[in-house]
Amino acid sequence: MPALPPSADPGTRPEGVAAGEAARHVREMFNAVAPRYDRANHLLSLATDMYWRRETAERIRRELPDPAELLDICCGTGDLSFALAARLRPSQRVWSADFSHAMLLEAGKKSASRPAPRAWLEADALRLPFADSSLHAVATSFGFRNLGDYLAGLREFARVLRPGGRLYILEFFQPSAPIFGRLYHWYFTRILPRLGHWLTGRLAPYQYLPRSVAHFATPQELAAWMRAAGFEPVTWRRLSGGICALHCGQKPHP
Ligand SMILES: C[S@@+](CC[C@H](N)C(=O)[O-])C[C@H]1O[C@@H](n2cnc3c(N)ncnc32)[C@H](O)[C@@H]1O
Repeated sequence: MPALPPSADPGTRPEGVAAGEAARHVREMFNAVAPRYDRANHLLSLATDMYWRRETAERIRRELPDPAELLDICCGTGDLSFALAARLRPSQRVWSADFSHAMLLEAGKKSASRPAPRAWLEADALRLPFADSSLHAVATSFGFRNLGDYLAGLREFARVLRPGGRLYILEFFQPSAPIFGRLYHWYFTRILPRLGHWLTGRLAPYQYLPRSVAHFATPQELAAWMRAAGFEPVTWRRLSGGICALHCGQKPHP
């Protein structure tokens, strides 16, 4: 397996939190914000977050075999899972997992009124409750950046994917266009934390969000990490001027 490129960082590092405590800190942060997560998300992104997940679900719908088993990992309150369940056939089964109990409770509440995944599972992305080579696709929206160990996460996704299976990662990045990038940076680092605090009563998660994106990776670096974990080919597409990108990597046939 090729070595990680020198720019690779092992995982998320919330400010003031020791590396070994990062995952627990992230879980507690999402547990605390869960009841107001959706409303804040939609308002802070002017509902563009729904468009990003729809684009991801559409791409998966076009590429997923039938029948198929698909995992939405770090599913949170389930919006990508719902977008997938609404588009896929019953024989294309969606499983949704997250390690935040409170986020899963919010997801469960929304299940009654719309097409929903097969099951909501409380599970850690680094230790998935799936057998080797059992899934046709793994997808994650805005979750990967929060993992305590990026390469361990990518290897775990590769483990559960069948040969030829696909990994989809929708994630935030820093837009590189000079003027738009500066404007967005000002909104993201100065305005968004205050709005998020006002909407949810919690400041820390909305300070963590821009810091975690700054600490994370460029789209090129994430693609290199995916290749280092064995995915090939890896492609990616910017969305909304580079605020987000959707990466797709395939687990090669032996
Ligand atoms: C920003 S939210 C994204 C939720 C959802 N996918 C969405 O699009 O809104 C990140 C989610 O990742 C989950 N998460 C972070 N690290 C995780 C891990 N190691 N295992 C499982 N879930 C994790 C958090 O609990 C949280 O629900």
